[in-house]
Amino acid sequence: MPEKPYKNIEVQGDKSSDVVWHQASVSHQERVLLNGHEPAVLWFTGLSGSGKSTVANAVDKMLYELGCKTYVLDGDNVRHGLNGDLNFTDSDRIENIRRVGEVSKLFVDAGLLVLTAFISPFHADRELVRTLLKDRQFIEVFIDTPIEICEQRDPKGLYKKARAGEIKNFTGIDSAYEAPNSAEVHILAGTKSVEQCASQVIQYLLENKYIQQNDHSENTKEA
Ligand code: ADX
Repeated sequence: MPEKPYKNIEVQGDKSSDVVWHQASVSHQERVLLNGHEPAVLWFTGLSGSGKSTVANAVDKMLYELGCKTYVLDGDNVRHGLNGDLNFTDSDRIENIRRVGEVSKLFVDAGLLVLTAFISPFHADRELVRTLLKDRQFIEVFIDTPIEICEQRDPKGLYKKARAGEIKNFTGIDSAYEAPNSAEVHILAGTKSVEQCASQVIQYLLENKYIQQNDHSENTKEA
């Protein structure tokens, strides 16, 4: 009988008691071997405008050039589809992160390095995702950009709207952001270039032997 995958988690309103887990024909280990690197979630957290998506995409590109199998899950994009029914109340943010945690777990099972870019403002929610995954599979990446800089950048004009009271529950203004206190990768992003931030993440993956320094860039050049 296969191990129940969610034994640590009380799924709210769990309706799966009569659903039996189907064992896959290709094992996780076989997928990992084929991909040639260790799968994990790189969980980017930080304020709106901190640079999470930009850095995650730069890391994604570097990993692609190293021949890794990756995928980026981005808050703004996922909220157009899978999580289009959620807004920014505390309970909807919790559900947003729970769903993304579950999706990330599937991608990790598929052997990928998943990069998620969500504000994920609450410590408990990030820790819940950590408990969904196995040891080493959750890497918290704190994009630590001071709110003054995020507000100055204001790429989507949302801080301006929040200050004017046109948007409610805006993170850092009238909704909390609980900064990580022991993220695996802590990036002081306000004073660094995108490339420096991305390299810091790659360095972590190399030092901790998730990936190896094989250059596949010849294979990934556009024809
Ligand atoms: S989270 O808090 O639930 O993790 P998520 O990362 O999915 O948030 O979405 C954040 C993005 O939604 C921001 O980058 C911003 O573009 C947009 N947004 C719209 N309203 C808000 C709000 N009230 N607070 C924060 N971000 C908002």
